[in-house]
Amino acid sequence: MIDKIEAAKREFDHDADAVGDERALESFRVKFLSRNGIISKLFDEMKAAPNEEKPALGKALNQFRKGAEEKFTALEEKLQSDGEEDAVDLSLPGEPAFVGGKHILTQTIDSIKDIFKRMGFSVYEGPELESDYHNFEALNFPPDHPARDEQDTYFVNDKFLLRTHTSPVQIRLMQSTKPPVRAIMPGKVYRNEAINARSMNHFYQVEGLHVDTDVTFADLKSALMRFAAEFYGENSRYRFRASFFPFTEPSAEMDISCFLCGGEGCRVCKHTGWLEILGCGMVDPNVLKAVGYDPDVYSGYAFGMGVDRTALMRYAVPDIRVLYENDIRFLRQF
Ligand code: PHE
Repeated sequence: MIDKIEAAKREFDHDADAVGDERALESFRVKFLSRNGIISKLFDEMKAAPNEEKPALGKALNQFRKGAEEKFTALEEKLQSDGEEDAVDLSLPGEPAFVGGKHILTQTIDSIKDIFKRMGFSVYEGPELESDYHNFEALNFPPDHPARDEQDTYFVNDKFLLRTHTSPVQIRLMQSTKPPVRAIMPGKVYRNEAINARSMNHFYQVEGLHVDTDVTFADLKSALMRFAAEFYGENSRYRFRASFFPFTEPSAEMDISCFLCGGEGCRVCKHTGWLEILGCGMVDPNVLKAVGYDPDVYSGYAFGMGVDRTALMRYAVPDIRVLYENDIRFLRQF
């Protein structure tokens, strides 16, 4: 009889290991623990055993039954908690996904690009590490021009530097394309300047260039007036002031009426009513010659504008440095 109990225990352990779901658990319970189950039958059989064996058999069977019941409860709990892990509550609210946004400099460059693209300009880019030739020489800077000083420009060695403006991209574009060319060239530029709330030693510019036969100053004005109307509003006023750049002749700077005060004078326009927005002019014949365009056949205009100040004015941000700190609390506001 004792052997029979031991055999039943081994069978119980073996079957318990195989229980994998609730149905298997129920047949396992019926087989061992129900009224007609193996353990009940063993109790019945014990009644026929000799009296002197009964206490030992009773003890062994009671232990078996207790252990079996405990094992059954444990299996039942395990199956339940496994089920909970898998369960998905479809009524729970979803976790919001973090959606990134465009930096305000990128947003500003994008809207400038959109306006010029509609006017037929394509977009062209060049390297930030430039040669002295592209940044200065081909643009008609004389060898002793102050911008070529180490005080103003980050030189990498005698021949290479971090570009100080996007104008060298004009040179690269014209060197690689035959006229007509009409493109804008956005990008980052570097100047060896002290950093404060109003200026950084690196910032963004958008350059523009249009070269063809018979391009005149009137074309320059009409393109920039269209741009100003779209970017700063149809009601903004503008003016051109004579200026000087080595690579354009004649040269001008364009101001627009301050969009904050409408020209009456405020802190943003330093009480002048005007905001200086870009430099421009007719491409100097020396520049056309440097890229192999015949100045007797072709003419063109170029312009260049700073993006950072524009973005600061547009979004009323008082300090240029926040554009480069990447503080998420600032960036999330736009
Ligand atoms: N490159 C000039 C600057 O950085 C801007 C400019 C571009 C002026 C093209 C005229 C024509 O100030």
